Amino acid sequence: MQKLVIEGGRRLCGEIELQGSKNSALPIMAASLLCGEECVLHGCPAITDIYSASRILNCLGAQCRFLGNTAVINSAGAEGTEIPAALMREMRSSIMFMGAILGRNGCAAVSIPGGCELGPRPIDMHLSALRKLGASVTEDGGNIVCRLPSGRGKGTRMTLPFPSVGATENIILCAVMAEGETVINNAAREPEICDLCGFLRACGASVEGDGGSSIVISGKKRLHGCEYTVMPDRIAGATYLSMTAAAGGEMILKNACIREMEPFLTVLEQTGCSMYASEGRICLHSGSRLRAVRDRIRTMPHPGFPTDAQAVLMAALAGADGTSVFEETVFECRYRHTDALIKMGAEIETVGRAAVVRGVKKLHGAEVAATDLRGGAAMVTAALAAEGISVITDIMHIDRGYERIEDAVAGLGGRIRRV
Ligand code: EPZ
Repeated sequence: MQKLVIEGGRRLCGEIELQGSKNSALPIMAASLLCGEECVLHGCPAITDIYSASRILNCLGAQCRFLGNTAVINSAGAEGTEIPAALMREMRSSIMFMGAILGRNGCAAVSIPGGCELGPRPIDMHLSALRKLGASVTEDGGNIVCRLPSGRGKGTRMTLPFPSVGATENIILCAVMAEGETVINNAAREPEICDLCGFLRACGASVEGDGGSSIVISGKKRLHGCEYTVMPDRIAGATYLSMTAAAGGEMILKNACIREMEPFLTVLEQTGCSMYASEGRICLHSGSRLRAVRDRIRTMPHPGFPTDAQAVLMAALAGADGTSVFEETVFECRYRHTDALIKMGAEIETVGRAAVVRGVKKLHGAEVAATDLRGGAAMVTAALAAEGISVITDIMHIDRGYERIEDAVAGLGGRIRRV
């Protein structure tokens, strides 16, 4: 099992070219099933979740190969309707293939997906939405079979009880091939939803309103292939900025999606970092000490503060002057990284959905195990700011979402080794 060994307590200085977005590339890879032709996807990050998605595509009869960060996917032969449980368990996004297979082939057999342990992650909204689109859905001991009696979904209007990212994506993937018009009210507004819709439009689909709370889709019988570039990863961007903020130093984030990162940048600015953002570049300068964030940092669906950036910002604020308070409203159990941060000297108290972070003078190195993707990234962030050496184990969680994190950190002058 590989580990990251980090020697912290040094200022960071350098540039990072931001990777493509994991949470865009995954549903877009699922969507490529719908066009039945070749799609060329640029900006796919070299991470294990992307390779899991490619195994699912190949298992369904598509052909997916990589040329660097470009995935070439030909879904002409993708007549498969079943994803084996072992592949479903590799990541949460495997569930996105359910809507795409259903849209393409009228029938899909999947099972409960894997992914980060962030508390209960039900898929009830996905299933009830597919039922509204006309699918019969049977569940038996974790196996799920969905069938569209006429082979195509039927357009409908629906209102989601919560703007779930995954449910919104699954509905879109099924509805673009359905008969008639589908309206999703209270849809997720995340930038990755817009990216998926942008890809589908490039394939000839009719989708409007993404980025707002109502999305309108007019189903088509057929889509076609396209060439598309996945948006930059706003959460990887937030992670690298948090690292430099925590350790002190200066960095330039290149290929950044500034507007989409605004909810994070607005909060980071309150820590006293100076930032300048223009034309896809964010320059950050972090002085010797960060300030605590005065207002409660409440994670919310976009355009609120992103839950995926909660852990890395918490790691940075663990060494700030003063007390910051987080409130996690999206997931029930997203504070599993706090024990590791405490082992590194942080003072964090969690009470239900709140975490109170009392900034300490200095963190110290420790041996810790990554608990989940963003929690693991938070440990790297804390280790870079800490005095001494840290060893992070269970880094397969980190590799699910960050492309060669050690190269990116080394590009900032950080002392990090994978052993
Ligand atoms: C996506 O997960 C992202 N994953 C997550 O990123 C991200 O944290 C999350 O959206 C929120 O922004 C991908 O895009 C692959 P949700 P998803 O459905 O779709 C509840 C990362 O670190 N819910 O919006 O699973 C659910 O339990 C990852 O990159 C139901 O109750 O998120 C949660 O509390 C982790 N029933 C809340 O909604 C449902 O049917 C938000 O989930 C679906 C969701």
